[in-house]
Amino acid sequence: MNKILHKGSRIYIAGHRGMVGSAVKRKLEREGYNRLISRTSSELDLRNQQAVRSFFREEQPEIVVDAAARVGGIMANNEYPWQFLYENLEIQNNIIAAAHEQDVDKLIFLGSSCIYPKHADQPMSEEALLTGPLEPTNQWYAIAKITGVKMVDALRRQYDHDYVSLMPTNLYGPNDNFDLKTSHVLPAMIRKFHDAKEKGHAPVPLWGTGAPMREFLHVDDVADAVFFTLNRSMEHDLYNVGTGKDIRIKDLALLIQDIVGHKGDINWDTTKPDGTPRKLMDVSRLEEAGWEYSIELEEGIRMTYEWFKEHQDEIKELKVEG
Ligand SMILES: NC(=O)c1ccc[n+]([C@@H]2O[C@H](COP(=O)([O-])OP(=O)(O)OC[C@H]3O[C@@H](n4cnc5c(N)ncnc54)[C@H](OP(=O)(O)O)[C@@H]3O)[C@@H](O)[C@H]2O)c1
Repeated sequence: MNKILHKGSRIYIAGHRGMVGSAVKRKLEREGYNRLISRTSSELDLRNQQAVRSFFREEQPEIVVDAAARVGGIMANNEYPWQFLYENLEIQNNIIAAAHEQDVDKLIFLGSSCIYPKHADQPMSEEALLTGPLEPTNQWYAIAKITGVKMVDALRRQYDHDYVSLMPTNLYGPNDNFDLKTSHVLPAMIRKFHDAKEKGHAPVPLWGTGAPMREFLHVDDVADAVFFTLNRSMEHDLYNVGTGKDIRIKDLALLIQDIVGHKGDINWDTTKPDGTPRKLMDVSRLEEAGWEYSIELEEGIRMTYEWFKEHQDEIKELKVEG
């Protein structure tokens, strides 16, 4: 452990109301860090360079976790390529540059596995970055995130800052998006099985054949990886965060059906596309540094379903206005 993080550290969590940011906040609070700094997007619009600079000058954070981004699925990316590219560049440029200007001790930049090429060898290692074309649908978001990774790398090389990029796999957990129009596969399945159970165990329609393999990580494990990274100087600029294990979508559906207690049929609509056959992270770099995940998928889904039932009334809508 180095001395970067201490109980009196002034820690700014950008995007503290989001799925990842709120998990990081919960983790730091649980560990007894009580000098956390946060602003909602209406209090501080991170796209505004002057406002971000003034905020950093006034608040003088020592540690920064950047979990703020315009996030969305394929449909939103397709419809708003400009916003996904430009706003994410603005948000991360402003945060990373202000952190550098204020000589922030440690910064963690969060991105996602979409930074890797569409046809990257599986499992995808950090070395796969920029070795081939991206998935076209979310290239806008991916290019912004790749730029963030390179900014962190440049600051490490030129100024010796201990800044790090963490790229998590598909996440799930509290504060996830359960809106069927925009949600990812795992929360969408929880919602669909739950709603069908409420309607007397009606059949659940699901897309594709169920054959693809996907990896899922509970968001509390990402928060744990952030905490781990904050507590030591890291050898590399970029680390994947995942379980290193994947599950067939069909088996995921059966697991969620069982946890939710839905007794009806599942109707696979095989006219709908399956997507990439396999997407799995190579997590050996972070494992070699000493971190690995701890929440198994079944336990994580049970916890997430409990959270969903308690918070059904407040579930999030995607805020994309164009
Ligand atoms: N969810 C996943 O499956 C997943 C997987 C891998 C990686 N990640 C990465 O984790 C990071 C966070 O994702 P998430 O799922 O936590 O997203 P999220 O739930 O949508 O939260 C994003 C947060 O960013 C803030 N934000 C957006 N635009 C802003 C602006 N202009 N000014 C200030 N704040 C702004 C929002 O703040 P307000 O609430 O105040 O509006 C929101 O709380 C992203 O970099 C994403 O790539 C997510």
